[in-house]
Amino acid sequence: MKMFAGYVILKEKQEALTIMKETIQDLKTRRSIKKYKQEQITKNELIQVLEAGMNAPSGMGRQAAVMAVVQEPETVKRLSAMNAAVMGVSSDPFYGAPTVIVVLADKRVPTYQYDGSLVMGNLLNAAHALGLGACWIHRAKEVFSSGEGKKLLEKWGLDENYEGIGHCVIGYGEGAYPEAKARKEGYVIWDEA
Ligand SMILES: Cc1cc2nc3c(=O)[nH]c(=O)nc-3n(C[C@H](O)[C@H](O)[C@H](O)COP(=O)(O)O)c2cc1C
Repeated sequence: MKMFAGYVILKEKQEALTIMKETIQDLKTRRSIKKYKQEQITKNELIQVLEAGMNAPSGMGRQAAVMAVVQEPETVKRLSAMNAAVMGVSSDPFYGAPTVIVVLADKRVPTYQYDGSLVMGNLLNAAHALGLGACWIHRAKEVFSSGEGKKLLEKWGLDENYEGIGHCVIGYGEGAYPEAKARKEGYVIWDEA
């Protein structure tokens, strides 16, 4: 009986080790995807990504961030156009991705930008772990302090204390998977005696 229990623990440990290895591998191979198929991701994929976002760490556990899911094509287009306007261009900054998760955070919480950025990180990594493509698209702060952005905040039941942190665009990636740039020299500093 003891042998059996030991075997179960060993098996569980090996399974946990395999999952850990996959997690590390996913973190190391995630890249920003900048070309998407039109096909929408599944609800199940979306929910899993959102749950990863909801489980990001936050300062004092205050969960200052919120995630607004936008899949309605006209609203995705509007968000893209508002983003392009901030840059003064007319191209699509969302690269045709069919899903946008807007991360906003409550400015009244001292750690709001850190909290929001960690949510963004979880979304990007979770999307990659599920085989989806994703990319952080910036300028959410500018977009959601504009008149049109404020109207969207109102529609989503958010007041002006919420600041845009980032847009996580998600979809099925198209084309070759991007290669990572070489990691810079001096990324890690070892303090040695
Ligand atoms: C704060 C932040 C803002 C970013 N904004 C944009 C953006 O507006 N548009 C874009 O195409 N990529 C954006 N990216 C993605 C970066 O271009 C990408 O992370 C970087 O080139 C490294 O590539 P990798 O993510 O594939 O490792 C952003 C990333 C971060 C972290």
